[in-house]
Amino acid sequence: MTSDLVHHGQSFDGKPLGFATKSIHLGNGVDAETGAIRRPITLANAYALPYDPSDINWSSSDVNLYTRNGHPNQRYLEAKLANLEGAEDAVVLASGVAALAATFTTFLNRGDHAIFSDTTYIAAYRLLNQILPEKYGIETSIVDTSAPRNVADALRPNTKLVHIETPANPTLKVSDIHAIAALAHEHGEKTGNPVLVSVDNTFNSPFNVRPLDLGADVVIESLTKYINGHGDALGGAIATTKARTDQIRFTAQVNYGGIISPFNAWLINRGSVTLPLRMRQHNASALAIARHLESLPAVRFVSYPGLESHPGHAVAASQLARDDAGFGGVLAFGLDADHDGHNRFVSKLNVITSAVSLGHDESLIVFLGEDDERQYLYPPEFHRGFFRLAVGLEDTDDLIRDIDHALAEAGFPVR
Ligand SMILES: Cc1ncc(COP(=O)(O)O)c(C=O)c1O
Repeated sequence: MTSDLVHHGQSFDGKPLGFATKSIHLGNGVDAETGAIRRPITLANAYALPYDPSDINWSSSDVNLYTRNGHPNQRYLEAKLANLEGAEDAVVLASGVAALAATFTTFLNRGDHAIFSDTTYIAAYRLLNQILPEKYGIETSIVDTSAPRNVADALRPNTKLVHIETPANPTLKVSDIHAIAALAHEHGEKTGNPVLVSVDNTFNSPFNVRPLDLGADVVIESLTKYINGHGDALGGAIATTKARTDQIRFTAQVNYGGIISPFNAWLINRGSVTLPLRMRQHNASALAIARHLESLPAVRFVSYPGLESHPGHAVAASQLARDDAGFGGVLAFGLDADHDGHNRFVSKLNVITSAVSLGHDESLIVFLGEDDERQYLYPPEFHRGFFRLAVGLEDTDDLIRDIDHALAEAGFPVR
């Protein structure tokens, strides 16, 4: 019988539990009412109040009160994610974007300054480049964080947050979490105004990289991607100290209403039990496909941190959380073709689906670049348009054959 020790991620013999055991058992437990060995979905909006409710704090999120204040399925998932990220606590919200917005709006106030990576997921870009400066008076600087000295140069006395995304969506640019955290913290110590470093770790998942171990203060995951893994639910998580998750719950969850639904929390918890198995396959398959693409005459460039040719390869390799970690399942590549040529290729694919998102069981491809509002920030090779390929869990050989077949059908040279 799985013991309560294991359900809480604690050792039963003095040795730490492995990542897979924790992915399966953390946050799970025997249901007291039915004896079920899987936690049920609790769909109620409201919970019975004690006989005398006069001493209840209506904004609290640690008791069952009202579902927007927090609910059991959210808490089971939070317990697992906090442990997998190496954090004191985690808060799970409705989407990855809800988690990004919660981080920015909780920790930044009017007059504060934030630095952010020049390549980030589009909503992070819009929030930090436009919405927060224009509506809330927050100063921001876009910086090429792949060179830590650029972050050092951009720090100001009122800098409160450095937000980095690595590898970044969609160019796969890599930033050095350890170096950036060290210089941001040193700056905070000098000025007496602490600087938080937040990392969007969605492209890695905690199986590949644990940013908190590298010195970051806050880690953000879109659970929609690898952690759920099955393309059927949205969710986001922030892992950090309990003092900070308390602030986020009060601001973004209870008062802005960014709560995850119990059903989505349950689905993501269910999907997350196979995270390590899936990540090993995503990592291996993406590396094999990146190497194959690099060998094709029709391919203009490939960007994947697992390739020796990637400028961030050494940094990415130095950040891996375990011996069997890898560089994730997403890569970018461009064909030696115009817009129509790229479209012709996609129309001939049989296994890989043309759709946004990533981290799903199925492989997804999307053509990007030409009308992307962030295009001016991308390296020149991305300007003619490119694909973001999110390698799924199909047989690697089928994916490679699908690519070769589609290239040939679309009139590109394969060898
Ligand atoms: C790196 C990254 N962060 C955040 C998000 C946003 O996540 P969600 O779609 O769950 O809101 C995405 C979505 O693609 C992403 O790729």
